[in-house]
Amino acid sequence: PPIQPFAITFGADNATLEPQGQVLTRRMSDLEGLFADADAWARAVADGDPVVYTVVSSPVPEVPRELPQSITTIQPGLTAGEFWMTKGHQHPDPQGEIYLGLAGHGGLLLFDGERAEWLDMSPGVIGYIPPGWAHRSVNVGDEPYKFLAVYPGSAGHDYGWVLEHGMGLRARRAADSGDLDLVPFGTP
Ligand code: 6PG
Ligand code: NI
Repeated sequence: PPIQPFAITFGADNATLEPQGQVLTRRMSDLEGLFADADAWARAVADGDPVVYTVVSSPVPEVPRELPQSITTIQPGLTAGEFWMTKGHQHPDPQGEIYLGLAGHGGLLLFDGERAEWLDMSPGVIGYIPPGWAHRSVNVGDEPYKFLAVYPGSAGHDYGWVLEHGMGLRARRAADSGDLDLVPFGTP
């Protein structure tokens, strides 16, 4: 049966939805090949394989014409100085998406294969992802970073594109100042 009109309530902690659909948990082991320092990544997997982020979806299905939503919560953390982040993906059917910052401090890294852009994300900020731009979220703070995503149900997720092309930039914490440092992707 088609989805009927309904309202969704945010949980008090801004990380749950009622009613709620799928919950996806991504551990460090799910992020193979994504951090610059592969040895540091392997040590983190061996040392407890921590949860890096979770994605809680509304019950709206990922099918054409529907408009699913989800809340992503990225834990604070560093792997060899690189801030914890999502895998990142392209939409195989190039369609736009919006993110709304809910809690914590993060960034939205966008890459179209040539140009990289960084959007600072905090509660109340809407980040717009145009069609054709790969997108990755990064927690650059000390608390969980949470955002709501709203995207076309037919957009899909292509993770291989990011493994092949990278994301243009990496988000690191500068060793001296502790500030965010955006470096070109190939930087050792
Ligand atoms: C989407 C959104 C968003 C994203 C999560 C996890 O298209 O569904 O961009 O919900 O999937 O933030 O990020 P990854 O899908 O890159 O792991
Ligand atoms: Ni997306």
